[in-house]
Amino acid sequence: MGRLAGHHILVTGGSRGIGAATVEKAHAEGARVSFIDLLPDEGRALAGRLGPGAHFAQGDVTSAADIARALAEATGRFGPVTGLVNNAGRNSYADAVAMTEEQWDAVFAVDLKSAWLVARAVLPGMIAAQKGAIVNIASVHAEMTYPGFFPYAAAKSGLVGLTRSLALDMGRHQIRVNALSPGYTETALVAEFFAKSDPALREKVMETHPMHRIATPAEIANCIVFLLSDEASFVTGANWVVDGGLTARFAG
Ligand SMILES: NC(=O)c1ccc[n+]([C@@H]2O[C@H](COP(=O)([O-])OP(=O)(O)OC[C@H]3O[C@@H](n4cnc5c(N)ncnc54)[C@H](O)[C@@H]3O)[C@@H](O)[C@H]2O)c1
Repeated sequence: MGRLAGHHILVTGGSRGIGAATVEKAHAEGARVSFIDLLPDEGRALAGRLGPGAHFAQGDVTSAADIARALAEATGRFGPVTGLVNNAGRNSYADAVAMTEEQWDAVFAVDLKSAWLVARAVLPGMIAAQKGAIVNIASVHAEMTYPGFFPYAAAKSGLVGLTRSLALDMGRHQIRVNALSPGYTETALVAEFFAKSDPALREKVMETHPMHRIATPAEIANCIVFLLSDEASFVTGANWVVDGGLTARFAG
């Protein structure tokens, strides 16, 4: 029996990266897992590989209609959602003067609003069950950041605030809500970041990490699954920083 036996875990952005690793780990821990993502090929391939305990729905988490459709499909197969991972996210490279309102809204729609939209859709089932767990994937950018990344840093800080408030509001229903803030993790998102940067930056980043390496998606997924599981039954309202010690350091 795995740590998530009997659970239905919903993961947003589960087709690749940290989300895909979370889908795999939750499935390996005995959960039935549904996931929603924009990317159909990767999503179908992952669900096909995992078999009948996994369900992929193509959809956009910034759309309440897409969320409702995906959730209806998933709960029809696996019953009410017992654990939610709000993982879908995107980077934002921006200049505070040049950025347009449309660009701002597009970042916040994915990196902050979608977490509330999906939580709003699953919370009635969790309240009815008087049990549930939500993990919001924030970032070390919620605490420390670098130049040129301000909408992402602002949205992820907002996501940590949303986490705290939902934890307070839902605690009486025995629903736990936590954030997990990964540091650098080997995914397409980080590959895109390094591709846009000076080629020497990757080596500098590795050297700055105490263990001289960055995370694998599976290392982040292990912590997410712990927070979803009953082993974390007294953890709520927290922001778990999983960054290999990166933010333990300052210049010097
Ligand atoms: N990789 C890192 O170093 C790192 C660090 C800190 C935080 N994070 C956060 O972790 C999460 C996952 O990041 P990742 O590195 O695995 O990224 P990724 O780009 O590899 O995967 C993100 C997934 O989310 C999906 N997605 C994006 N927008 C969506 C939308 N509107 N609707 C549905 N699906 C959508 C993408 O299609 C993709 O499959 C993000 O929230 C990211 O901000 C990542």
